[in-house]
Amino acid sequence: MTVLEAARLRLRPMTDDDLGQMSALLGDSQVMRYYPAPKTRVEAQRWIDWNKRNYAEHGFGLWIMEDHHGNFIGDCGLTIQHVDGTAEVEVGYHVVTAHQGKGYATEAAQECLRFAADSGIERVIAIIDPANAPSQRVAEKAGLHLEKKATRNGREQLIFAITL
Ligand SMILES: CC(C)(COP(=O)(O)OP(=O)(O)OC[C@H]1O[C@@H](n2cnc3c(N)ncnc32)[C@H](O)[C@@H]1OP(=O)(O)O)[C@@H](O)C(=O)NCCC(=O)NCCS
Repeated sequence: MTVLEAARLRLRPMTDDDLGQMSALLGDSQVMRYYPAPKTRVEAQRWIDWNKRNYAEHGFGLWIMEDHHGNFIGDCGLTIQHVDGTAEVEVGYHVVTAHQGKGYATEAAQECLRFAADSGIERVIAIIDPANAPSQRVAEKAGLHLEKKATRNGREQLIFAITL
């Protein structure tokens, strides 16, 4: 089932069958270099379970990003995150190293913002490590602007935001 479709890719719900590719993505130390640690296979399954709950509870979550031939590109989507005590809708993205730098995250993030606007969501943020230049660039290309700094899990993060 396709949730969103863009020129070069589509977003569809994550299922348990995606565990192999998701654990390779989230277990890659390059992809996870701004996270506390790469995820184990068990943690990748929890990630899938979390997103299945997100679809049921909110009608959105992180979706599988694939090209129109079905090749796995990564994940991208919307989740609820708490910043400074406020629940916010965040756009997030992870792209396999072989496909980084091709504009996929930007294309997917733009589709997610369109989905958010169509769903009546008025504000979307991105929580980004100050050293994560590619992610900041994606946020800016999708129309988000640096709004403030916030501390999450003991780490200083940049909060990018867009009003829809
Ligand atoms: C962030 C990420 C999803 C971007 O995916 P992508 O498909 O490569 O993104 P795009 O190709 O759409 O855009 C990347 C932009 O970052 C720029 N970029 C890449 N490396 C950069 C660097 N070291 N410094 C500055 N800009 C950089 C690219 O040039 C491009 O911008 P441009 O179009 O103006 O040239 C990908 O790098 C990734 O998966 N990183 C690891 C996971 C992660 O950090 N996720 C975000 C958590 S907040």
